[in-house]
Amino acid sequence: MQPAICFVCLGNICRSPSAEAVFRQLVSQRPDAAQWRIDSCGTGDWHVGKRPDPRALRALARRGYESEHRGRQLCAGDFQNFDWLLVMDDSNLSDVRAVAPSQSRARIAKLSDWDPLQQAQAVADPYYGGEEGFASVLDLIERCCEHFLQQEYPRK
Ligand code: 4NP
Repeated sequence: MQPAICFVCLGNICRSPSAEAVFRQLVSQRPDAAQWRIDSCGTGDWHVGKRPDPRALRALARRGYESEHRGRQLCAGDFQNFDWLLVMDDSNLSDVRAVAPSQSRARIAKLSDWDPLQQAQAVADPYYGGEEGFASVLDLIERCCEHFLQQEYPRK
């Protein structure tokens, strides 16, 4: 099995590259880590080619995560190349569904559907807020990614 997961947000510089970095770290502890395809993208094109927001990179680094990602926009191939497109909020969900082909390999869902605390309705955009918003986004991303992995890809 070659699991393929892509995280999707609006700009691909805050939430989805953060989720990608967290998820990569979790998967790296598995014996089949090399089989996994893990990526992220944005529905918008403003930040294509850009490194993640410095605030996101700082929040990641404080927890020992790294990101080499550069922004890219969601494309038609993503619906066939991934098993899951995990979006961050309802706006992402409707934007992705609006361009989804009728035959999509990828299942489209909100990452917060796997909140083990069942508190979050979305991973809210921290872009217009302060530094502390990036830490709480990471709290949520960490617990949702762990739970998603346990639920959807349980270790044998
Ligand atoms: P993201 O945050 O979707 O988590 O990457 C945003 C980053 C940039 C913008 C919006 C959201 N922007 O409008 O430029």
